Amino acid sequence: MSPRYRRPSLLLVFLALFLSLDVRCQNSPAPYEFHGLPVRSDLANPTIEKKVDALLKQMTLDEKVGQLVQYSVGTATGPGTGRDRYDDMVQKGEVGSLYNLADVKAANYYQHIAVEKSRLHIPLINGLDVIHGYRTEFPVPLGLASTWDPEIVEKAARIAAQEASAAGVRWTFSPMVDIARDPRWGRMTEGAGEDPYLGSQIARAYVRGYQGKNLSAPDSIAACAKHYVGYGAAEGGRDYNSTEISEHTLREVYLPPFYAALDEGGASIMSAFNALNGVPSTANPFTLTQVLRREWQFPGLAVSDWTSIRELMPHGIANDGATAAFKAFSAGVDMDMQSNLYHEHLVDLVKGGKISEAQIDEAVRHVLRVKFALALFDNPYTDETRENHGELSEQKLNVAREAAERSVVLLQNEPVSGQSVLPLNHALHSVALIGPLADDPQQMLGSWSARGKASDVVTLRAALEQCLGAARVKYAKGGEITSATDAEVATAVDAARASDVVILALGEDAGVMTGEAASRAHLDLPGGQEELLEKVSATGKPVVLVLFSGRPLTLNWAFTHVPAVMAAWFPGVQAGPALVRLLFGDAAPSGRLAVSWPHSLGQIPDFYNALGTGRPADDSGSANAGTHEAKYVSRYVDEPNAPQFPFGYGLTYTEFRFSTPQLSAKKLSATRLSEDLRSRKTNTSTVMTVSADVTNTGKVAAEEVAQLYIGLRGTSVEEPVRALKAFERVSLAPGETKKLTFSLTPESFALWDIHNERTVEPSQVRIWVGPDSRRGNVVEMYLTE
Ligand code: BGC
Repeated sequence: MSPRYRRPSLLLVFLALFLSLDVRCQNSPAPYEFHGLPVRSDLANPTIEKKVDALLKQMTLDEKVGQLVQYSVGTATGPGTGRDRYDDMVQKGEVGSLYNLADVKAANYYQHIAVEKSRLHIPLINGLDVIHGYRTEFPVPLGLASTWDPEIVEKAARIAAQEASAAGVRWTFSPMVDIARDPRWGRMTEGAGEDPYLGSQIARAYVRGYQGKNLSAPDSIAACAKHYVGYGAAEGGRDYNSTEISEHTLREVYLPPFYAALDEGGASIMSAFNALNGVPSTANPFTLTQVLRREWQFPGLAVSDWTSIRELMPHGIANDGATAAFKAFSAGVDMDMQSNLYHEHLVDLVKGGKISEAQIDEAVRHVLRVKFALALFDNPYTDETRENHGELSEQKLNVAREAAERSVVLLQNEPVSGQSVLPLNHALHSVALIGPLADDPQQMLGSWSARGKASDVVTLRAALEQCLGAARVKYAKGGEITSATDAEVATAVDAARASDVVILALGEDAGVMTGEAASRAHLDLPGGQEELLEKVSATGKPVVLVLFSGRPLTLNWAFTHVPAVMAAWFPGVQAGPALVRLLFGDAAPSGRLAVSWPHSLGQIPDFYNALGTGRPADDSGSANAGTHEAKYVSRYVDEPNAPQFPFGYGLTYTEFRFSTPQLSAKKLSATRLSEDLRSRKTNTSTVMTVSADVTNTGKVAAEEVAQLYIGLRGTSVEEPVRALKAFERVSLAPGETKKLTFSLTPESFALWDIHNERTVEPSQVRIWVGPDSRRGNVVEMYLTE
């Protein structure tokens, strides 16, 4: 157990938390019920509590409210406030946090005003969206999740924290842990995909990386789990749109990654833009108070999203700013990002008796805990000689390349003239490299690239020319991402004709089509790229499609006509070297899909961990449509149910065989597991193991991601037919076999039952171990009374 998780005096901490929560939650209608675990955190300790108490006693009401106010200095992703006299506001103690300041001198400048010139010398906490790297840009988060490798995600987040903290940033608005089941939503690129278990493991890895061993270290930055909650379920995939999620699904699917991030010690959480079941997330007492504070006992800071408090007015639940501030604050949002409404109204709301000063104290306590935990009172300034920590280094670039290599998913690799197209042969005489994304460094950085620089990126073209020599690479852009002239296409076709093999680098525009406010109603290749693909393929040359995107794209033509396809996402600064190593087999692909890849738009939402139906269709869906038995089942008449590629899927240059799983127990007592759940002996106590042999049956060394799924039957509520519960990356030489042993805990079998209680129920359990969410060998066991 690391020191961070040691709880020296639990009783004191719980007492302090309970007393403080009691005050903040006084208006909450829900009865106290303990559903979850107290989150592990280095914010909740008696030393910090004493310091917070002492400081609170000295603060005026205005100074307290100041701690709850946050303003952006710099790049905006939303409307401004009209307030820009930051020096003046900071000096008066009217601001608790600034963000979008990513310059060490500027950060120290404002900190100096806060610490030396404000009455109580309370430091600012300086935030920034450090999402998949600060200067050293790693693959976009969906790519990082496709590594199924929490260790590399943690390493990437650690490097990001070191670089960002060297620039005076001590708080990142990351990880985005929103479950996303709809690829139309542009922000799918910012998260870890569709699965709560994978999402939780990845969320924990980011938090460990950002916050390091201890938040107080100068190179640690506070994490922020966002967007709480349900934002990824935006109806129609349209950003900012409403969501309807039952409490059961909320608890089983959408909340777990948030819980995981906070349980790992995550210091803060951000309330989302969307309405959840008719109540905007930024004014939602159920999620912000009942779940977050009462059940999870979260001691840290809840910040709003950019102007999401002001947006309660267009949402229609507040007709003026004071009401919006009142609703957000009473629901549990501690800090107002950019709405300017806490600044304007909280003092008056207290004076008018609508909010008590004790409630304000409680919110300020959450902010101060984070500031003390970051040791900002002792070390408010960033050592400007650390600035070189922000520079690229060989070691960091190696991590970036490794992460990129592991993030790429080989979707298809069919034989041409009896041999798989990939890996390519180093001895090839000539390669045509075609497409608008082959040599565009800015695109490789994806959306949200903090202080990433296009000049740091090695593109596919640069890496390929370095590998083969420029003379063997015939490069033709073939047009822009959204448009192409006949002449550009013709030049590309000529280049293809004159080469042995064609690599096509096609896809989306990272800035315009992925990320925030970038939802798409069409998921095909934009502009003239489909035509370019078809014309180049018509030359008859073997084609490898390297697809750059922030989400799965529906590419039916490509999947039926192009022999080799790789999903490269947006791979970051080392895009080119990683791709070239994979294309030529110097590294074997090992990325696995973190989202189901649909055939067509009509299948969306299409996620693997769906419930069964009373009329399940066979896998092929429409294949038996003619027969009477096959008609009245849950299916489309014009499209299979199965996705193009399932969750967990990915090919490589070898094949793996899985043995039938062996269980250490065929029966377990559901009652005993439920008791363990309640007494909090959950994810640490193994109750059984599942082992399986994995063999590399091919001729190439490679890594497999072995995946364990379970399905429960006979429960009080329907559970997913399959749900991921464990996975492991394993490296195997040709012919090698390794035995993998997975631990299952009470958590692995737990569900939210028909009364919305967390429990383990008597049931029949099916357990699969295999290469993805649709394959693998299955065994059964029972959870008895
Ligand atoms: C986004 C957040 C982000 C915030 C601050 C908002 O528009 O939704 O994810 O953290 O801006 O930049």
